[in-house]
Amino acid sequence: MRVRKIRSARELRRSRALLASTVDASFLSEFDDIPELQQHWQCLADDGTLAGVAGAYVTEDDELCLTYCVVAPDHRGGGMQAALITAREKWGKGQGCHKAVTYAARRSFGSVINLTKAQYRIMALDDYFLCFEKDLA
Ligand SMILES: CC(C)(COP(=O)(O)OP(=O)(O)OC[C@H]1O[C@@H](n2cnc3c(N)ncnc32)[C@H](O)[C@@H]1OP(=O)(O)O)[C@@H](O)C(=O)NCCC(=O)NCCS
Repeated sequence: MRVRKIRSARELRRSRALLASTVDASFLSEFDDIPELQQHWQCLADDGTLAGVAGAYVTEDDELCLTYCVVAPDHRGGGMQAALITAREKWGKGQGCHKAVTYAARRSFGSVINLTKAQYRIMALDDYFLCFEKDLA
C-alpha cells in the first residue's frame, strides 16, 4: 500500500469519483467548506488501485484536524485508514502541530477502533459522535 498527498482539485475530483462508484462517498463534500485550508490524501493498494481518501487541515489553534476518511469496501481490513492517519499526522507535525483532533460517529466502529489503536483519546461524546485528540510527539 502507498499513501500520497493529492496535489490538485482535478485529482481530488477524480479520486472521489472513483470511490463513489464503490461506496456512498456523498458525505465527503460536507468537508469542502474550508477548501483553502483542507488538504487531501489518497491510499493506493499494491496493484495501484485507489483504495481510500482522507482529509485534514490545520486549525486556527495550530492543531491538526483530521476531517474525513473513506476506504472502498473491497480494501477494508488492510490497514488503509491507519496508514492515512499516520500520513496526515506526519504532515501535521511538519506544519508545526503539537496536537491532532478529530471525531467519529459512534456507529463507525472501524474509525473508532483505528483511532483508539493510533493512541487517540476520547475527549467528549454525545449520542452520535465521539471527539478524539492526541498529542503529536
Ligand atoms: C472507517 C473506515 C475508513 C475503516 O476502514 P479500514 O481502515 O479498512 O478499517 P477496518 O475495516 O480494518 O476496521 C478497523 C477495525 O475495526 C473493526 N471493525 C470494523 N467494522 C466493525 C464492526 N461493524 N463491528 C466491529 N468491529 C468492526 C475491524 O475488524 C478492525 O479491527 P482490527 O484492527 O482489530 O482488525 C471504513 O470502514 C469506511 O470507509 N467506512 C465508511 C466511511 C466512514 O464511516 N468514515 C469515517 C467517518 S469520516
